[in-house]
Amino acid sequence: MKALLLLICQFVLTFAQRPAQKPGRFLSLPNPQKCASRPKQFFFQGHNYFFSGHTPQFRNTRVDWLDARNYCREYCMDLVSMETQQENNLVFKLIQDNDVPYIWTSGRLCDFKGCENRSDLEPKNIYGWFWSANRVKMSPTDRVPTGYGYNPWSKTGHKKTRQPDNAEFDINGTTESCLSVLNNVYNDGIAWHDVACYHEKPFICEDSDELLNYVASTNRGIRL
Ligand SMILES: *[C@@H]1O[C@H](CO)[C@@H](O)[C@H](O)[C@H]1NC(C)=O
Ligand SMILES: *[C@@H]1O[C@H](CO)[C@@H](O)[C@H](O)[C@H]1NC(C)=O
Repeated sequence: MKALLLLICQFVLTFAQRPAQKPGRFLSLPNPQKCASRPKQFFFQGHNYFFSGHTPQFRNTRVDWLDARNYCREYCMDLVSMETQQENNLVFKLIQDNDVPYIWTSGRLCDFKGCENRSDLEPKNIYGWFWSANRVKMSPTDRVPTGYGYNPWSKTGHKKTRQPDNAEFDINGTTESCLSVLNNVYNDGIAWHDVACYHEKPFICEDSDELLNYVASTNRGIRL
């Protein structure tokens, strides 16, 4: 029941955060068969992960941020959330070892319906970021995050200033609301950048406790 309620909450949340480019889009429901046979490329602290570029069904798939979430969610996963430096190191190493240019993470700016009039989120570029997969708030972007020994947001970007810089907004009014890890795009090594969510990128999926629990509780005897 709790899982179902959470799922409904997440639907309401998404209903509100549908991107401007493609109105009326929803979060996908998990598919029990896909959850049971989900790709498990590596395992860390109780969660399985896979990189889209290393799975046959997604080898050449590049999609916008919401489509990336939805591909993960069909497998009872969601885009990766790096709450600790250890987990971030795994993501950075995968990117480095495989020369991956960039990936989507679940990082999101709270700039949709429901985020208005929240003084605790202002200014948004510092206090407005969270991990959408589990709705965990991120540390302020101008500080070393809790659980980290350094700040993984890049020190540079399109405007040659610290990230997040919302640079595309200055170009043509498109907000950079999604968190991508870029591999040396600005001669800055592997680092976090705010990017407009319509860009098409490969992605890393991570087990979602919420979706796994939901599918387990509604499919008696399923092995996940
Ligand atoms: C936010 O504040 C504005 C201005 O005070 C008000 O018009 C609006 O209704 C508020 N929105 C919400 C969701 O509370
Ligand atoms: C905004 O600018 C970017 C970068 O030049 C471009 O890729 C994108 O299509 C533009 N978006 C709009 C809505 O004009």
